[in-house]
Amino acid sequence: MSVHVEVVRDATHEMTEALRRLVPQLSTSAELPDQKVLHRIVGSEATTLLAARADGKIVGLLALAMFPVPTGVRAWIEDVIVDEAARGQGIGEALTREALSLAQAAGARTVDLTSRPSRAAAGRLYERVGFATRSTRIYRYTFGSTG
Ligand SMILES: CC(C)(COP(=O)(O)OP(=O)(O)OC[C@H]1O[C@@H](n2cnc3c(N)ncnc32)[C@H](O)[C@@H]1OP(=O)(O)O)[C@@H](O)C(=O)NCCC(=O)NCCS
Repeated sequence: MSVHVEVVRDATHEMTEALRRLVPQLSTSAELPDQKVLHRIVGSEATTLLAARADGKIVGLLALAMFPVPTGVRAWIEDVIVDEAARGQGIGEALTREALSLAQAAGARTVDLTSRPSRAAAGRLYERVGFATRSTRIYRYTFGSTG
């Protein structure tokens, strides 16, 4: 099996289909992305979408967000998803390593991500490639909730 990680530059039908197949494998509550959403992602200066192909088929994705703030360039990894049928072959690791290399090239000093403790495979993957947990408070404001 040959695995190849690439930057997604165009909102193709193939990539839209892949997003719609992969996103539910991460989140059952997220809306299914359509081509317009993909267009927005690939057109965003802040987001780099990576796709992994195995034997030609898109089997994984990762979104890397990078943006300048006064303290430097921030980099965040989001939405790491490998197709269930293609897991355990190093594809998640290949996506993550490519994201780290792009973030370093862009001048980021650190790369952040969050991952629920229940996502055991994801936690092992991130620690294997060198991520360490850090102590901080993760806040979220949800619109529509009573404050
Ligand atoms: C987390 C996730 C992205 C990992 O993807 P993956 O492609 O299976 O990851 P890898 O193959 O790099 O690593 C998984 C396992 O395969 C093993 N592996 C890597 N290359 C291998 C190879 N060539 N042959 C056999 N096993 C291999 C790894 O050692 C690892 O083993 P471990 O889990 O026992 O530590 C995937 O499980 C997933 O999409 N989960 C659902 C969504 C999710 O939780 N996303 C993360 C959000 S934070």
